[in-house]
Amino acid sequence: MKAQVCDAFGPIDTLQFRDVPDPVPGPGEIVIESRAISVNFADSLVIEGRYQVRPPFPFIPGTEAAGEVIAIGEGVNQFQVGDRALGFNEDFGAFAERMVINADIAAPLPGFMSFEEGAGLLAATGTAHHSLRQRGQLKAGETLVVLGAAGGTGTAAVQIGKAIGARVIAVCSSPDKMAFAREQGADECVDYTQDDLREAIKTLTGGRGADVVYDAVGGDAFDACSRAMAWNGRLLVIGFASGRIPQLPVNLTLVKGYSVVGVFWGRFTREEPEANAANMRELFDWIEAGKVRPMIDTAYPLSECVEALRKVSGRGVIGKVVMTP
Ligand SMILES: NC(=O)c1ccc[n+]([C@@H]2O[C@H](COP(=O)([O-])OP(=O)(O)OC[C@H]3O[C@@H](n4cnc5c(N)ncnc54)[C@H](OP(=O)(O)O)[C@@H]3O)[C@@H](O)[C@H]2O)c1
Repeated sequence: MKAQVCDAFGPIDTLQFRDVPDPVPGPGEIVIESRAISVNFADSLVIEGRYQVRPPFPFIPGTEAAGEVIAIGEGVNQFQVGDRALGFNEDFGAFAERMVINADIAAPLPGFMSFEEGAGLLAATGTAHHSLRQRGQLKAGETLVVLGAAGGTGTAAVQIGKAIGARVIAVCSSPDKMAFAREQGADECVDYTQDDLREAIKTLTGGRGADVVYDAVGGDAFDACSRAMAWNGRLLVIGFASGRIPQLPVNLTLVKGYSVVGVFWGRFTREEPEANAANMRELFDWIEAGKVRPMIDTAYPLSECVEALRKVSGRGVIGKVVMTP
C-alpha cells in the first residue's frame, strides 16, 4: 500500500510517500481500508519530534481514520469484513491506504455519517466531550468560553457546549472564524487578536467571569482566562496550539476559588473504557439529532499530506482537515 513515512524527525516536507507492506491485524485488532484520514494539530509535532511521544523509525504518522473493515484479528467479534468503521490508534499508522485499529477503540460508522465526518470525530469531538462532561462538569446555564473556537476541537466544544445547554462565548482570531463559530451555535464571539480577552470575558459575564474555559491554545490566552474565572470555575487545559505552555501563579486559583483541570482524552479511553463507551453513545445520539457534527474544511488527497499538515499548523483551518486515499 501507499503511505506517508517518517524516516527521521524533521520538517513535515521530509515525509516520504512510498510503498510499504500491508498491515496485518494482531489479536483483538482490525484493519480498515481508509476512505478518510484525520489531520490533527499534533501530527506535525510528532513528525518534527516535538510531541510527548517519539515513535521509533520508520513510522507512519497519523492517528485516526474511517473506512471499511478488510481484515479481522483473532478474538474480534464486534466487526465483520465489509463493515464501516472509524477508529483511533495511539501507536500511529493512519497516513496510509490501510490502518490497524484496536477493535475495542473502533466504533461502527453510522449510516448518517460520511467517512470524512467519521475520520475527524474522535480526537477532536471525543476530547471536547470528555473535557466538558467528565473534567469540566459543565452544566446547563453556565458560561463556557472556548479558545480557538473555529479549530478542530474548538468547533466540537462550541457544539457540545450548546448541546449541554451552556451559554457559549467563542474566542477566535478573525471575522471569518467568528462567523463560523456563530453558525455552530456560539452566543457571543470575541476576536482575541483585536480585543483584550480578560476584559471581554468580564464584560460578557457581568463581571462574574467564566464558569468553564476550554483551552486548546495556551500562551497569552490562558494567562488572560486565568484572570477571568468565576467562583467555582474550571479552567480546562487541552493543548498549546499557540506554541507556549503557560505558567500559572497558583495564588490566582486561591483568590478566585477556581480549579485548573488537565485533559488527556487518549489516556481516558484506556483508563475508563466504560465511561468512554457511554460518551460515544451520547455523542452519536447528538450527531443523529443534528446537535453535533464534525465540520470538514478541506479534503486533500493522501499524496498532498504536506499541504494538509501546513494548513492545520498554519492556523488556516476552519473546522477539520481530512485526507482521502
Ligand atoms: N488533551 C487532549 O487530549 C487533546 C486532544 C486533542 C487535541 N489536543 C490539542 O489541542 C490543540 C488543538 O488541536 P486541534 O486539532 O483542534 O487544532 P486546530 O484545529 O489547528 O485548532 C487550534 C486552534 O488554535 C488556535 N491558535 C492560536 N494560536 C495558534 C498558532 N500559533 N498556531 C496554530 N493555531 C493557533 C487557532 O485558532 P485561532 O486562529 O482562532 O486563534 C486554531 O484554530 C493541539 O495542541 C492538540 O495537541 C489535545
